Amino acid sequence: MNRINTLSDLLMEELAELFNIEYQLVQALPKMAQACQSSALKTVLEGHGGVTKIQAGRLQDIFSNIGQNPQAVICRAMKDFIGEGEYVMKELEKSTIRDTAIISVMQAVEKYEITGYRRACEHAADLGHTRIVELLSETLIEERAMNLHLNELAQLMINDQAIDPSPKAGSGGFYIPKGKFNRNRIKRKRNNTDLSRFISEGNPNSQDPQER
Ligand SMILES: [Fe+2]
Repeated sequence: MNRINTLSDLLMEELAELFNIEYQLVQALPKMAQACQSSALKTVLEGHGGVTKIQAGRLQDIFSNIGQNPQAVICRAMKDFIGEGEYVMKELEKSTIRDTAIISVMQAVEKYEITGYRRACEHAADLGHTRIVELLSETLIEERAMNLHLNELAQLMINDQAIDPSPKAGSGGFYIPKGKFNRNRIKRKRNNTDLSRFISEGNPNSQDPQER
């Protein structure tokens, strides 16, 4: 029998899925952080591991506030993203290329989470659940900040790969000719500054169109 018949049922399903997403990430993020070559990426992933535990706790608060237990839902999409991350860690050696691939996986994760939290926020607002909207919005701000961190790191990784004038076979052909290389060096310097700002302060007011 279909257990989702109302918007309220749908919201409960969405919250249960978000809870499972955070649970899966709490397990996966420390492993991904350990697999990174870049200390900046490792710091960002470790930091987000701690934030993810808080986000799972927030969802638990929501369920206890409304007097319900989360349904036993497994988010298959998140399972696939994490499977992709495990594949990257197994098949690639510790390198900038592996870091870049880990960032790609995490960018997909963040976009999925942002979409899920936005949808749940909208449904909670439609149902007049003000407190749920407030709690979900806090997480949404954190996910958007993480998405920005990853975008910055992705740019740094691309620029690092531009330094190698003779990429090894199978590196993905990231060689960039000298003229472009020089421009990237300048850009990298600027991004380094931006990155440390984001790591220390975060950016909760992101209007970054790339996260959409
Ligand atoms: Fe999260």
